[in-house]
Amino acid sequence: MSSILSGKKVLLGVTAGIAAYKAASLVRMFIKSGAEVKVVMTPTAKDFVTPLTLSTLSKNPVHSSFYNEEDDNAEWNNHVELGLWADIMIIAPATANTLSKMSTGNSDNLLLATYLSAKCPVYFAPAMDLDMYNHPSTHETFRKLQDFGNIMIPAESGELASGLVGQGRMAEPSTIVSFIEKDILGKLPLRGQKVLITAGPTYEAIDPVRFIGNHSSGRMGIALASTAANLGAQVTLILGPSSLKVSHTLIKVVPVVNAASMYKAVVEAFDTCDVAIASAAVADYRPKNIADQKIKKASSTFAIELERTTDILKWMGSQKSTQFLVGFALETENEEKNAKEKLKKKNLDLIVLNSLNDKGAGFKSQTNKVTLINHKLEIKAFELKTKTEVAKDIFNEINRLRNV
Ligand code: CTP
Repeated sequence: MSSILSGKKVLLGVTAGIAAYKAASLVRMFIKSGAEVKVVMTPTAKDFVTPLTLSTLSKNPVHSSFYNEEDDNAEWNNHVELGLWADIMIIAPATANTLSKMSTGNSDNLLLATYLSAKCPVYFAPAMDLDMYNHPSTHETFRKLQDFGNIMIPAESGELASGLVGQGRMAEPSTIVSFIEKDILGKLPLRGQKVLITAGPTYEAIDPVRFIGNHSSGRMGIALASTAANLGAQVTLILGPSSLKVSHTLIKVVPVVNAASMYKAVVEAFDTCDVAIASAAVADYRPKNIADQKIKKASSTFAIELERTTDILKWMGSQKSTQFLVGFALETENEEKNAKEKLKKKNLDLIVLNSLNDKGAGFKSQTNKVTLINHKLEIKAFELKTKTEVAKDIFNEINRLRNV
C-alpha cells in the first residue's frame, strides 16, 4: 500500500543535537515510504552523524556549507534551489539554537538560508534538555514559528542524554513520519469525500467461452482514481476486466465483468458518493440469450440477437441529488455538438470529450487529448498529455466547479 509521501520531495535539515543519530533512521523511513530525500546539515551537526551515512541512505549529496571549502573548483550550494525543490522541509532534530535563529531570520549557515528560501510546509521536531525545552524563551520561539505557519512535532518525555527525565527527547522517527503523513492527509482538498469511478471494458457473454468486449484498458479511470485518492478522497473504483493493478490505501476496487454487474455495483455506491465519474466503456448491447454450452459451428452465417444494457450514467443522472456527475464521450464526428447533447440528456455537470480523430487519444494509448464541457456549456480544450496529467486537469476542473 503506498504512502501519501510516495513521490514527494523531502528536505531534511539536521542540527547539532545528540538525537542527530536518529536522522539516519528517519532518512531510511522516508525513502521506504517512496519519498525522494535530500539532507542539509548545520556544520556542527557533522560531529553527531556523518554526512557519508546520510548521503548513502538518501542517495543524494549532503551539504552543510555554502560551498565545499576543500575543493578549489567548488560550486556554490544553492540554498534557493534546495528550498524550492522541496515539497516538505523537516528540521529534525531541531535544537534550541537553530529554532531561535529560524524565528529571527538569522541565516548564518546553509540550513538556515535554505529554511528562509523554502516555500513548502516546514515541520520541526525539537530536541533539547528539559529545562531548555521549558524555558519561556523556547516557548516564545515555538509560538513564533507556529505563527509563521511552521508545524511543530512535539518532543516526547523520557530519559534525556543528560540523564534527567522529562520532555525534550526528539519524537521517534516512526512518530515523525506518521505525524507528517497524517498532517498531509488531513489537509487534502478531498479529505472525507467519496468518489465513485467506473472504468475499464465490459465483457458480455455469448456462451461459456466467448464474449463481446472492447479495447478499453481502464488506464484513464485508474489514473482518475489515483488522482482522487492522492487528493484525499475515499475512492470506489468499479473496474471491468483490466490487466492493470491498482494499489492505494484510499482506493477500494470492486471488480465486475459485464454491464449488469457494473450497474449493480454503481447502484450500491451512488447514493453516498459526492462525485461520480463514468469512464468505463460499457457495452450498449448484450446477447439476449447466453448459451449454456459452447456454441458449435454449423451454418455458414450466424446471427446473435442483442438487447440494450442499462445506461448506467443515465441512471445516475436520473437519481442525482447533491452528487457531481461526470461522463465521457468518445466521438468521431460533430464532437462538441454530440458531447453537449449527451451532457444534457444524461443530466451531467461535466463531460470529458475524446475525439477518435486526435492521434494519441482514446482507448489503448498512455496519452489522451480531451475537451471539458461543463453544464454552462463552457468549453476548455487541453493538449495531448499523459492520462495521469489529464486526470489532474479533470479534477482541477471538478474542484473549481464544486468550489473545493
Ligand atoms: N455509459 C454507461 N452505461 C452504458 C453506456 C455508457 O454508464 N450502458 C457511460 C460511459 O461510461 C460514458 C458515457 O456513458 O461516460 C458514454 O455515453 P454513450 O451514450 O454510451 O456514448 P457512446 O458510447 O459514445 O454511445 P453513442 O454515441 O452511441 O450514444
